[in-house]
Amino acid sequence: MLPSSPITDARALITETRAIGADVSVISFDCPGIAATARPGNFVNIKVSESNQPLLRRPFCIHNVRGNMIDVMVKSVGKGTTLLCEASCGTSAMVLGPLGNAFSIDTPDFDTALLVSGGIGTAPMLFLEKSLAAKGIPFRNLVGGRTRTDLLTRGLSNCSTATDDGSEGFRGNVVELLKHHLESTAGIGRAKVFACGPNPMLKALARFCASRSIPCELSLESIMGCGVGICYGCMVELNNADGELESILLCREGPVIDGRRFTTEERP
Ligand SMILES: Cc1cc2nc3c(=O)[nH]c(=O)nc-3n(C[C@H](O)[C@H](O)[C@H](O)COP(=O)(O)OP(=O)(O)OC[C@H]3O[C@@H](n4cnc5c(N)ncnc54)[C@H](O)[C@@H]3O)c2cc1C
Ligand code: FES
Repeated sequence: MLPSSPITDARALITETRAIGADVSVISFDCPGIAATARPGNFVNIKVSESNQPLLRRPFCIHNVRGNMIDVMVKSVGKGTTLLCEASCGTSAMVLGPLGNAFSIDTPDFDTALLVSGGIGTAPMLFLEKSLAAKGIPFRNLVGGRTRTDLLTRGLSNCSTATDDGSEGFRGNVVELLKHHLESTAGIGRAKVFACGPNPMLKALARFCASRSIPCELSLESIMGCGVGICYGCMVELNNADGELESILLCREGPVIDGRRFTTEERP
């Protein structure tokens, strides 16, 4: 999990907005400083309103980088995300980034990358697959959702899907799809999993990968305020090397973590 590049905070023009589902939009910002140094797994912290409502910025993975542009894929779940999804081209917002660490795609411990995601967790996978492709590293996307309208595969290549209700692709969850993929695919060599999605999915995935000794990196979420290690709002508990729980600031040490740190049962 690589540390982040130098951070910029700039007013960025919104150049394009595209609704790609009932409650999901892709929004493009003209951010040359961030686009130049962003790496897959990094996030940005966006001031979604000119007023102080909401006061705090909202964190979003970098979905894609195109020249001077960065794209974010936003699911409307509350006030801030709804404002961002409804933003108009030609308006602007303050965008801080790139923040956090990045997926480690240069490690020598794998031959094929398996990009496992669920729901809006698919957001960082387009930038990740483009970075893998640029290095000539084989990859496959395994994308899950409850039903077919939850699958956010737009722009992705080498994609297999899973839905809980069987309305598209494999019937079952995306961890079961991964197991099926590993059992039915020969010749992919050593696999490494890169994942993002809801916590229960990531926990099941981390345990599955640990049971098979498959290296695994997870992009986690938490409530965030500053995004840069000042407010202490993003504390999460993870395993340390001795198997004990320790608190980390996810914005500074994450959001990408080694999957072995996320295998402990949740506290009641
Ligand atoms: C590193 C990181 C990357 C993320 N990437 C994406 C992304 O690419 N696309 C995307 O749609 N969402 C992403 N999220 C989640 C997104 O930040 C939250 O959905 C958003 O902040 C909610 O703001 P709101 O004002 O709409 O919701 P609120 O009205 O504040 O709350 C609605 C719900 O969202 C939860 N929530 C609120 N703030 C956060 C927060 N900062 N982080 C997580 N959950 C929150 C609340 O617990 C509540 O359940 C990411 C979060 C993190 C930490
Ligand atoms: S979000 Fe403020 S310390 Fe992490």
